[in-house]
Amino acid sequence: MASASSAPSVIVIGAGISGIAAAKTLHDAGVKDIVILEATSHVGGRMRKAEIGGHTVELGANWYLSGGPVPNPIAEIASKLNLKYTLTDNGNLSSNTYKQQGGLYPKEAVEAAQKATAARTDFCAKFSQALNSGAKEDDDISILAAHRLSGSLPETPLERVVEYMNDELTDGEPPELTSLKNVHPRTIGPDHGPLAHFVADPRGYEAIPQYVGEQFLSSINGDPRLQLNKVVREITYTENMVVVQTEDGSTYQANYVIISVSIGVLQSDLIQFKPQLPMWKRVAIADFSMAVYSKIFFQFPHKFWPTGPGTETFLYAHIQRGYYPVWQHLDNEIPGSNILMVTVTYDEAKRMEQLSDKELQAEAMGVLRKMFGEKIPEPESVLTHRWFSDRFYRGSHSNWPRGYSQDRHDKLGAAVGPVYFTGEHLHKKYFGWVSGAYLAGIDTAKSLLKSLEK
Ligand SMILES: Cc1cc2nc3c(=O)[nH]c(=O)nc-3n(C[C@H](O)[C@H](O)[C@H](O)COP(=O)(O)OP(=O)(O)OC[C@H]3O[C@@H](n4cnc5c(N)ncnc54)[C@H](O)[C@@H]3O)c2cc1C
Ligand SMILES: *[C@@H]1O[C@H](CO)[C@@H](O)[C@H](O)[C@H]1NC(C)=O
Repeated sequence: MASASSAPSVIVIGAGISGIAAAKTLHDAGVKDIVILEATSHVGGRMRKAEIGGHTVELGANWYLSGGPVPNPIAEIASKLNLKYTLTDNGNLSSNTYKQQGGLYPKEAVEAAQKATAARTDFCAKFSQALNSGAKEDDDISILAAHRLSGSLPETPLERVVEYMNDELTDGEPPELTSLKNVHPRTIGPDHGPLAHFVADPRGYEAIPQYVGEQFLSSINGDPRLQLNKVVREITYTENMVVVQTEDGSTYQANYVIISVSIGVLQSDLIQFKPQLPMWKRVAIADFSMAVYSKIFFQFPHKFWPTGPGTETFLYAHIQRGYYPVWQHLDNEIPGSNILMVTVTYDEAKRMEQLSDKELQAEAMGVLRKMFGEKIPEPESVLTHRWFSDRFYRGSHSNWPRGYSQDRHDKLGAAVGPVYFTGEHLHKKYFGWVSGAYLAGIDTAKSLLKSLEK
């Protein structure tokens, strides 16, 4: 550690969970000259609550896992805060999967599709392990290729929606784009646990990054070390100095900068680097994937869907894969709220971002009328966040693309002189997740601290 008189100054860009965790780690290690620059007026980034019909819902991250052999630090903080949640149980989808024209599929038909999906997933895990132990670093294939190798591909709308639920709903991108070697076998479930906690608390999931911030800031609004509404547009760096310029014309100077913006923002032209980042870095940034996963909430005057045990999640099997596929009612979380949430991904999510709320409502009502009949009421409110169009996010979370090597991923995380990088996309195992973002923030701060020792 540098002595107090030569203590370095650090600028952290972004007040999501990774930037906050990085800043706290530096603070705890004695680096006190820190300023966090956040583009929005909000602390928490992609952990963000909103209201619909007077009820709090999560526009971004919603779940955390626990109950497994590897403690999840996010679950520990949630439990310290007594954050309210429900456990999501998707074990009864075989009785809750709807045909395109309406009516439920027979239980046995869904179970057969689920069995085929489970067998494919098992094959993916084993084949990935074989590739990882034998083949060269660049010998990756897509999840779709592994499905082909397994000898069975989903064909019917039912088989495809069941398969969608298994891979694309997590990855946010289709199996033809996603890396087998770096995604299967999936580790976060076995590590952090089988219990999917769905945050349902008026304080929001964002209470977690805000709590972490309050451990070293006097408050999350008003401490001068946290500057909100500061959109970073330019970073000028030399070997041991950075100057950061924001959209409102302010400049900040420090010895180091840690950039925690999403991979989607790094890929955009929002932030200019002077000099330009080296080729190996730009390539590593451009070649990773930013997925799009969107949630749309509808609040109705009364409910017309089944509630009670084993009804929370239901599927809609449209011939166009990914068309309003995964639905969840919030009756368990907020009884009497009459809220439905639908999740869409990738191209369908991008298409839907171009629609107005009214157009979204019309499409969704078409789907809901097939499932629940013509007489259902129109919603009173519609709520979504268009993450892909939002210049401070450009999507929902990272996905590991097919053929992207570990070596390239190391380069994605590597510092360029005094410019350090963090964010969910940099965690080797839990990329895409809040826990990965939190742990990546701590790791980046530690590697900066290590270089100070020299
Ligand atoms: C719809 C959705 C659902 C999700 N569901 C889950 C889930 O259930 N469970 C889970 O674990 N994860 C989920 N995720 C992913 C999770 O939210 C993210 O992995 C995590 O929150 C990312 O944290 P971060 O700190 O890396 O990035 P961010 O939260 O994006 O933080 C980066 C910050 O940088 C700011 N910023 C951007 N550009 C600039 C700039 N130029 N200048 C200054 N500041 C800037 C942003 O405003 C933001 O606050 C979901 C995400 C979305 C969008
Ligand atoms: C499964 O779902 C059906 C249809 O919604 C419901 O009637 C049934 O009670 C559920 N079964 C269990 C075991 O939860």
